[in-house]
Amino acid sequence: MLNPDTIKKDFPIFKNIPELIYLDSTATSLKPKIVIDKLREYYETYSANIYRGIYHLSERATEEYEKTREIIVSFIHAKSSEEVIFTRNTSESLNLLCYSLGEEIIKKGDEIATTIMEHHSNFVPWQQLLIKKGGKLAVIKLDKDGGLDVLHLEKYISKKTKILCLTYVSNVLGVANEIKKIIQNAKKINPSIITIVDAAQAVPHRKVDVQDLGCDFLAFSSHKMLGPTGVGVLWGRKTLLDAMPPFLYGGEMISEVHVRNTKFKETPHKFEAGTPAIAEVIALKEAVRYLEKVGLKEIENHEQKLASYAIKRLGDEFKNLHVIGPKNAENKGGIVSFYFKKYHPHDVAQILSEKNICVRAGNHCAMPLHEELNLTATVRASFYLYNTQSDVDALIDGLHDVSRILK
Ligand code: ALA
Repeated sequence: MLNPDTIKKDFPIFKNIPELIYLDSTATSLKPKIVIDKLREYYETYSANIYRGIYHLSERATEEYEKTREIIVSFIHAKSSEEVIFTRNTSESLNLLCYSLGEEIIKKGDEIATTIMEHHSNFVPWQQLLIKKGGKLAVIKLDKDGGLDVLHLEKYISKKTKILCLTYVSNVLGVANEIKKIIQNAKKINPSIITIVDAAQAVPHRKVDVQDLGCDFLAFSSHKMLGPTGVGVLWGRKTLLDAMPPFLYGGEMISEVHVRNTKFKETPHKFEAGTPAIAEVIALKEAVRYLEKVGLKEIENHEQKLASYAIKRLGDEFKNLHVIGPKNAENKGGIVSFYFKKYHPHDVAQILSEKNICVRAGNHCAMPLHEELNLTATVRASFYLYNTQSDVDALIDGLHDVSRILK
């Protein structure tokens, strides 16, 4: 069974700041020593550009970079490394799809379906594309339990819907959508619909199998899964990637350039223009290995336990506090968002911060969801493999202090 006290020892930040109660892994995760060491290894022992050098250092860097791609292939059960593209982050992966795929296939009068619980990065690109093209955005609403209204998909999806883009786990509600079932049902209504999954809050916390989900594209970020910042992943079906034009033009994504024309490389290189985040991609493999060693199922169970415990204590001990989203932690990641009727979330986060408790306050880049709930902001506590029950206790104690101070 996962032991967070042992896991904490692998994260140097807890040695440097022993009093740290970090409850903001949904924004970005902390990094284990092996990831930090791998970054250092690259810079200290084979620091060179990839693909370009016919010398040992460059060959080693290229090998390490491509090894990460292979590890991602097996981590998410892709069919081949040609389906795995490195970007800067989830936002860039989704923008790549919007510019490369969306620009090509969306015509006047077409529709895209998304959900009210999206992060802005899976909402704004599609909204802007449709404004430009003269199409319509259909937004799947919440059901009465705080999950998605998936029983009425035909209200949102029709033969005109070219793309369905939705989040796997909401970064605010914590709810894990039933992606496989939603995609199956969407494809029954419109067999040619293209499905895009924002898995930024799923891949770090549960086993994700792209073939089992049945989606066409899936995006996630390294920095939320113990890896370095500056790296995102886009997985896509090869047939679709083959048909898409490049998103960015530049070095290493071409096979031939002449004065009048250019031939591009095949996927994934066609989508990786310029020098990428070499050290960060290389170190990402250590994060994946670490997660696999601990076990994704164990991580998921551990977070659910912490979330249930937090929800119970928040409900039992605070009369003027409301937890948003499903109260049942079963179909939830380790994310708990709440608000006090009378206190501003920023004041709550500020007082918690004085007690070394890090939570996020605001709209969490999900303004449409907050508007739907008639809220401007919430406080969000999120849990990961290194969080303990005593971290939750510290949060609850901190919130009692908040009530005393702000009363
Ligand atoms: N998407 C990240 C969050 O939800 C930054 O906090």
